Amino acid sequence: MNKKEKAALKAAEYIKDNMVLGLGTGSTAYYLIQKVGELVGKGYNLKCVATSESTLKIARDLNIPLFSPDEVDHIDLAIDGVDEIDLAFNAIKGGGGALLREKIVASLSKKVIWIMDDSKLVSTIGKFPLPVEIIRYGYKQLLKKLEALGFNPVLRLNHGEAFLTDNGNYIVDLHLGEGFNILKTKEILDGLVGVVESGLFLNLCDLIIVGSDQEARVIINKNK
Ligand code: A5P
Repeated sequence: MNKKEKAALKAAEYIKDNMVLGLGTGSTAYYLIQKVGELVGKGYNLKCVATSESTLKIARDLNIPLFSPDEVDHIDLAIDGVDEIDLAFNAIKGGGGALLREKIVASLSKKVIWIMDDSKLVSTIGKFPLPVEIIRYGYKQLLKKLEALGFNPVLRLNHGEAFLTDNGNYIVDLHLGEGFNILKTKEILDGLVGVVESGLFLNLCDLIIVGSDQEARVIINKNK
């Protein structure tokens, strides 16, 4: 079993019958979705909210009952992947471009678990470029602003064309480097017109599960 699958299966132990679940996006969440499909097959009554069109498709093929965030009263538990996280629970997400829906689902969830292999747990975040979802209208002006701020923005491409999110927006990846000022950067990005949401997820999860060769280690966020 690989490290991602190990973490996903450990996280699945937190799923109880009759829960409303948020299903994350990416290669680690993939294993979790497979397990949820298995639980549904066994008769678990689960309602699921997908964080992306790709997750929606995987879940639909497994006959997992799917709902939009507006069709459920609440979400009990969201389980998702992460791109980089430090031990203060500052995280970068959005490598797959799903950060906006992931943040919406996380913010609606009573409990949030992130699953990962051990390469994602770092002492300082910033090596992984920070994805930011931006509006297409006037995006070149926004790129100039981000450049002037020293954020080293790179418009994400897909086969030579600008990458489009599930929400019809663009993604710009900011090459900030380790040790960037996390709070200041978030404050600046939150205040920029044209920015929809950033992939900075600060203190948003309750626990992480880190898969390694030896184990799936649970680390609880004591500050949330
Ligand atoms: C999707 O936009 C991301 O936030 C993913 O959750 C993240 O990229 C983790 O993906 P992997 O599990 O594939 O590394």
